[in-house]
Amino acid sequence: MPQHYQITTFGCQMNKADSERMAGILDSLGYLATEDPLAADLVVFNTCSIRDGAEQKLYSYLGIHAHRKHQNPALTLVVAGCVAQQEGTKLLRRVPEVDLVMGPQHVDQLSTLLERVADGEQVVATDPREIPEDLIQPRRQNDLSAWVNVIYGCNERCTYCIVPYTRGVEQSRTPEAIYQEVLNLSERGYKEITLLGQNIDAYGRDIGSNLASLLRTVHAAPGLERIRFATSHPRYFTEELIATCAELPKVCNHFHIPFQSGDNQVLSRMARGYSHQRYRTIIDTVRSHIPDAAISGDAIVGFPGETEEQFLNTVQLVEDLQFEAVNTAAYSPRPGTPAAHWPDQISEQDKMDRLQRLNRAVDNSARICSQRYLGRVEEVLIEAPNPKDSTQVMGRTRSNRLVFCPGDITHLRGQTVSVRITAARSFSLTGALLPVPAR
Ligand code: SAH
Ligand code: SF4
Ligand code: F3S
Repeated sequence: MPQHYQITTFGCQMNKADSERMAGILDSLGYLATEDPLAADLVVFNTCSIRDGAEQKLYSYLGIHAHRKHQNPALTLVVAGCVAQQEGTKLLRRVPEVDLVMGPQHVDQLSTLLERVADGEQVVATDPREIPEDLIQPRRQNDLSAWVNVIYGCNERCTYCIVPYTRGVEQSRTPEAIYQEVLNLSERGYKEITLLGQNIDAYGRDIGSNLASLLRTVHAAPGLERIRFATSHPRYFTEELIATCAELPKVCNHFHIPFQSGDNQVLSRMARGYSHQRYRTIIDTVRSHIPDAAISGDAIVGFPGETEEQFLNTVQLVEDLQFEAVNTAAYSPRPGTPAAHWPDQISEQDKMDRLQRLNRAVDNSARICSQRYLGRVEEVLIEAPNPKDSTQVMGRTRSNRLVFCPGDITHLRGQTVSVRITAARSFSLTGALLPVPAR
């Protein structure tokens, strides 16, 4: 009887990329994928710990399977990702039915870890570890656009953030290994890649290279149309990098550069290493090299000690800089991070109130940004049918805006087409397909 697996993924693109690698390993072991967790013999939760509540959510999901396991002892329960790394053996104490707890640095070891489970062991794999190159073929969710890890871990110590504790120290993959992966993807028909790192501008520091040079390397892969990268830390976003992006035609004009706050005192308490003036200068420099650049970011409201005035400085930054999108979050204390222990925590009510007000500013800014697309002809890579209207297809502009237009997906999927934009909303556009091919 073939065994079935099911993976539930929370969190960022890195976690999604890790899940694709775990799925690839399970495929190679002869498991079959299923969508239904209750029909699976092996259940994986790839968890995220960036905000509070993640652990609770996980425990409630695990409850159902722990119950199932009493009826079916052959069921294998795996907790991977950032909560796994954070909780370690605590997880086993809390849910003794779990077979394997594995941190993000152990993804490539899944097969060996499962062998130990099959031998009757309950395994916790959370030791810090250097991640070697491997031959895993990820089972990718998308056959046009792929994620490519370029740097693991994070050496920053932002005072609110759990990531350095869950993903370990920075470790860059070699440009050669990355190029091989990208070449393989482009040969298989992929049109777009997104280079991934928690702090991607730090790429290469440990191996005598840098992101600008890596972009030049992957740019040479034939067939590839679009190169993206995320996430950028303002501290390392250099003019050399900006100039390289402007020069290389495949590098898309979208930059995700979290700012977190528009107030210098808050930024300093967050240990971000830049001022709001410096952030503004970076965005000005991006726009002077790439006038149509789309900028998005992340922001936190209600960081410990944040005053109303300091919060308004964040709103001001959003109003001044015109972001295409901002992921906003209310500050959430994370175990083991410095800010979680500070006495001047902001009340939930104030956090929610600030979040709503910031979201209104973000929405406004996104709507204004959208207006500039009206009447323009945009190059759109068609990815899928519009899930809400099957007579339409959807894709993205180079600036990462979602676009809908009438069309037949069977002919258009994977095509890069020209679309004249006829309607603009805050976070998406509608248009009409033009007969001229974009490429
Ligand atoms: N490496 C990236 C982002 C990592 S986490 C960077 O440096 O910006 C993704 C986003 O989650 C962060 O940008 C931040 O806005 C948010 N985040 C991280 N820790 C948080 C916390 N404790 N509470 C609320 N939001 C948080
Ligand atoms: Fe977290 Fe800061 Fe590292 Fe980003 S740079 S992952 S916010 S510690
Ligand atoms: Fe979450 Fe870990 Fe990513 S905490 S955001 S899954 S690095």
